[in-house]
Amino acid sequence: MDAMVRLTTTLAITISLLSTFANIALTFDGGGDTKQQPTLCGELVLPAGYPCSEHVIQTKDGFLLGLQRVSSSASIGYHARESRPPVLLLHGLFMAGDAWFLNTPEQSLGFILADHGFDVWVGNVRGTRWSHGHISLSEKNRHFWDWSWQELALYDLAEMINFINSVTNSKLFVVGHSQGTIISLAAFTQPEIVEKVEAAALLSPISYLNHVSAPMVQRMVKMHIDQMIVTMGVHELNFKSDWGANLLVSLCDTRLSCSDMLSSITGKNCCFNESRVAYYLEQEPHPSSSKNLNHLFQMIRKGTFSKYDYGKLRNLKEYGNIKPPKFDLSRIPKSLPLWMAYGGNDALADITDFQHTLEELPSTPEVVYLEKYGHVDFILSLQAKQDLYDPIINFFNSMGKVSSI
Ligand SMILES: *[C@@H]1O[C@H](CO)[C@@H](O)[C@H](O)[C@H]1NC(C)=O
Repeated sequence: MDAMVRLTTTLAITISLLSTFANIALTFDGGGDTKQQPTLCGELVLPAGYPCSEHVIQTKDGFLLGLQRVSSSASIGYHARESRPPVLLLHGLFMAGDAWFLNTPEQSLGFILADHGFDVWVGNVRGTRWSHGHISLSEKNRHFWDWSWQELALYDLAEMINFINSVTNSKLFVVGHSQGTIISLAAFTQPEIVEKVEAAALLSPISYLNHVSAPMVQRMVKMHIDQMIVTMGVHELNFKSDWGANLLVSLCDTRLSCSDMLSSITGKNCCFNESRVAYYLEQEPHPSSSKNLNHLFQMIRKGTFSKYDYGKLRNLKEYGNIKPPKFDLSRIPKSLPLWMAYGGNDALADITDFQHTLEELPSTPEVVYLEKYGHVDFILSLQAKQDLYDPIINFFNSMGKVSSI
């Protein structure tokens, strides 16, 4: 029972958008052999019988990101082999590209898209285990971790899209979950990025965060955990390290039970496979930066969808204004087709915040509402194929032939 509590606790932390500090040290098997470098293709895709290739791309600020390309030899598709439309998958916070391959090939979006004749590209942002460091900074250097989701949008996502666009000579589809939707929406406000995107499907879409209802997250925000860890000199949030466990345990005291941590962070999830938790934990969680958590908590506190707030003086220096510039959703072109799915039990992508996002978008996205879904269900639900992935494929296929630019 205790182990299950710990596993559930850790899963919650791993998958949720705004979580922190998990009891990983107790549930991981020690981290494995560091000598042989595992790859996402080698661990999750090739063993399932799907062709997969590894690529490394370099961002403008020097980060080296792993990008995988997956196809299917047994494509049941709609699309001719030579005209497979590219789709880029963007994972959430503390996850990486493996998120799209965690269930069986019949249940996981990465495999399902490949089976339907898409040219699947799997994104991994800086700091995750599938990224490859930096051209000059070591991961031990604090400057390596000096970024938040705004850099993930303007550097990482921009570079992924450029690379895929140049290899395929085609516009691409984008699918994001959670943090993957924040960075998509921020990037789509930039004309030079969005012109290469054909359409996007966003799961648990997030821009504004001030109605986050998750008690555990609200508590961490009130306690200023984000600023605390930065002050402590912790710049990398890596739950495979030992120290976070103690803080987590200290956070779930009498008022917030540890056993229901999953719900207290993500909302009550209806539909994932609890017997697979140990397997999920072989992949998750991936590191992120303390600054990223800090930026997200700023959004919760202030109700803004803006760049990182350094404080008035430094803002003036960084941005030429005492306030950080906002990402203006009204600049996302009306012509960009959007499909969005949100959940009635999602305590992170709250319905009120989602409505706020919709109001500011010039277009009217196709919207799917799943009353029972919590934040985790969008990626792990056993019914996700029927509820989400088939509708996404129909949406993409309804675009007709993908145009080149
Ligand atoms: C749930 O996970 C277990 C363990 O991996 C697996 O044996 C079982 O088939 C899964 N159930 C479903 C419905 O996929």
